[in-house]
Amino acid sequence: MVVLVTGGTGFLGRRVVYELLERGHQLRLLVHTPGSERMFSHREVEVQYGSIRDPVALGSAFYDVDSVVHLVGVIRPKRRNSFEDIHRGGTANVLTAAKEAGASHFLHVSVIGAANNQSYPYLYSKWQGEQEVVNGGIPYTIFRPAMLFGEGDEFLNVLAGLVRLFPLIPVIGSGKNRLHPLAVDDLARCIAITLGRDDLKGRTLDLGGAQRLSYNELVSEVAKAMGKRRLRLHLPAWPVYAATAVSQVFLPRPPITTEQIKMLGIRSVAELGEVERVFGFTPRPMEGNIDFVNSVGVVDGIQMLLGSMPRSIRDH
Ligand SMILES: NC(=O)c1ccc[n+]([C@@H]2O[C@H](COP(=O)([O-])OP(=O)(O)OC[C@H]3O[C@@H](n4cnc5c(N)ncnc54)[C@H](OP(=O)(O)O)[C@@H]3O)[C@@H](O)[C@H]2O)c1
Repeated sequence: MVVLVTGGTGFLGRRVVYELLERGHQLRLLVHTPGSERMFSHREVEVQYGSIRDPVALGSAFYDVDSVVHLVGVIRPKRRNSFEDIHRGGTANVLTAAKEAGASHFLHVSVIGAANNQSYPYLYSKWQGEQEVVNGGIPYTIFRPAMLFGEGDEFLNVLAGLVRLFPLIPVIGSGKNRLHPLAVDDLARCIAITLGRDDLKGRTLDLGGAQRLSYNELVSEVAKAMGKRRLRLHLPAWPVYAATAVSQVFLPRPPITTEQIKMLGIRSVAELGEVERVFGFTPRPMEGNIDFVNSVGVVDGIQMLLGSMPRSIRDH
């Protein structure tokens, strides 16, 4: 029984792959950038190359597939990899290939706050992807995680860069809006548990971690993990938004995108206790589990601000 994973080389995907291998599943990965699968070379995974935008590549990758774990997502859209192309169109292509293969379970990762609201193009395209899945004709489970943290994450490592470089940490707006960070390893565990759980077919699950934290509290957590005390500098949203919009044109990988700034203003929380209730384990808190931020040095912080992510911090 083959489990096909898309996006398996990503921040979440590699953890999902390891969790599934631990549980003895036979895996096939759809790899987008050839060579990136080398991270699994010591383990038994079958590889097919291709883009979810290419129905032909998908057709030849999906033979004998029983379940699909679809993780591909983009937060920095490109001209030929737009939100719509990937989250709606790509998901539709993956569903078609899965249906032709006779797959019996489609696990799909969306995002908390996905909604039919075009003012938020990322969330809107994720909602469109969900609609494809719900109407796709394959028993499905949709995960809607809140922000994910873990080694290699972009959010906390960028904050760590700011903590390393500056005595004052810029915060957009009041910083009081609540987020619900979930450890990426915990989400990977939830996904792996779901394979084989018929009772979770047809469910859409909003998932957050152990605590709800405001952005201000996130800044404090990162500073505390680094043994620093930092004051916050609250900035009005629009000048930061305008500066980010300009930087997006020139920087290959701006430290934050306009879309992310918009989403920081949305209350993105799940029910407390949902992971325990549905999956039977307690998600880890942020405190005590973000020591990785200490590996961000001064040079790394400068590099991130200049729009490139050091490969020692995040390798893709
Ligand atoms: N990170 C978060 O905080 C967060 C929060 C909520 C929801 N999510 C959702 O979780 C999922 C995984 O996110 P992530 O943070 O792990 O993303 P990521 O690290 O950027 O990984 C994305 C993966 O998708 C692959 N990919 C990109 N374009 C593709 C294409 N056209 N065809 C096939 N594969 C393609 C990438 O391969 P290449 O690198 O080779 O292109 C990579 O393996 C996404 O659906 C995202 O929306 C993430």
